Amino acid sequence: MKNTQKGPLIISGNAHNTLAKDIASYIGQDLTRAEVFKFNNDNTFVKILENVRERDVFIIQPTAFPVNDNIMELLIMIDAAKRASAGRITAVIPYFSYARTDKKDQPRVPITGRLIADLITTAGADRVMMMDLHAGQVQGFFSATVDELTALPILASYFIDKKYDDWVVVSPDIGGTKRARDFANKLGAPLAIIEKRRIGNKDTVETLNIIGEVKDRSAILFDDEINTGGTMIAGSKILKENNVKDVYVAATHGVFPNGSLEKIVSSEEIKEIVVTDSLPIRNESSKLKILPISELLGEAIKRTNRGDSVGALFL
Ligand code: R5P
Repeated sequence: MKNTQKGPLIISGNAHNTLAKDIASYIGQDLTRAEVFKFNNDNTFVKILENVRERDVFIIQPTAFPVNDNIMELLIMIDAAKRASAGRITAVIPYFSYARTDKKDQPRVPITGRLIADLITTAGADRVMMMDLHAGQVQGFFSATVDELTALPILASYFIDKKYDDWVVVSPDIGGTKRARDFANKLGAPLAIIEKRRIGNKDTVETLNIIGEVKDRSAILFDDEINTGGTMIAGSKILKENNVKDVYVAATHGVFPNGSLEKIVSSEEIKEIVVTDSLPIRNESSKLKILPISELLGEAIKRTNRGDSVGALFL
């Protein structure tokens, strides 16, 4: 029996403590105290320091770097909550890293997204809350209930507030067309698409063509995530070659491994980089704008706890 009348409890792993605190603060409470650390032998240990028996527990843990450690930590936190008799456990994973490994598109490769989903469900998560998955179908990897939230309204209002009337939203590849079209609709802007080709399994990107009118417009290159920035840098170059006025790059998730943020920031073609704080971003720059998602997640958690509609948040 789920004791959701008592309100949610928010527990944070080590992946993104600031986001977890901001969510708890939006809900109007402190984080539920927990010890989450590694022993000298590299084993992760978790102890929840407050009673969670029959409570509605939300564990906040995006798959930030180090990705595999943070996934393991999440699994162990879920196990600790389950063994502490939590009434219901929701894994809140604003960024789900392995979502890109979602199909067997080459011989002898894994579907790691599915594997991680199985681990999370087996550990004991009743529900999973995520945000702007690389592909919506990844929801189906989980047998637990999934709520996929979107940061599109947050990103859209940031650009609407600039009050430009010459936006064009550009998808950096054909696969992202629907996402970019939804974003363009929110801005009332036209859509263009870049034909991109990834070379091998590495991060090398080749842009080929632009489909649509971009000349003399302010372009927003829009994607689900910026990883190394290869896609955005190559996209910005071809946009500039096609006489775009300014290039803004925007995505829900800023992954930015190994100095890649510096590389994107120093790209002359890019005017501004806009992402959310679904992941912790350490290197800051005046060209980088980080939009908070804690209110959206906090509201979704409150609604889940009360049994109210989460979808209504996006109408
Ligand atoms: C992949 O298709 C995603 O939608 C992004 O385009 C990709 O993750 C970006 O990666 P990078 O920044 O390394 O080019």
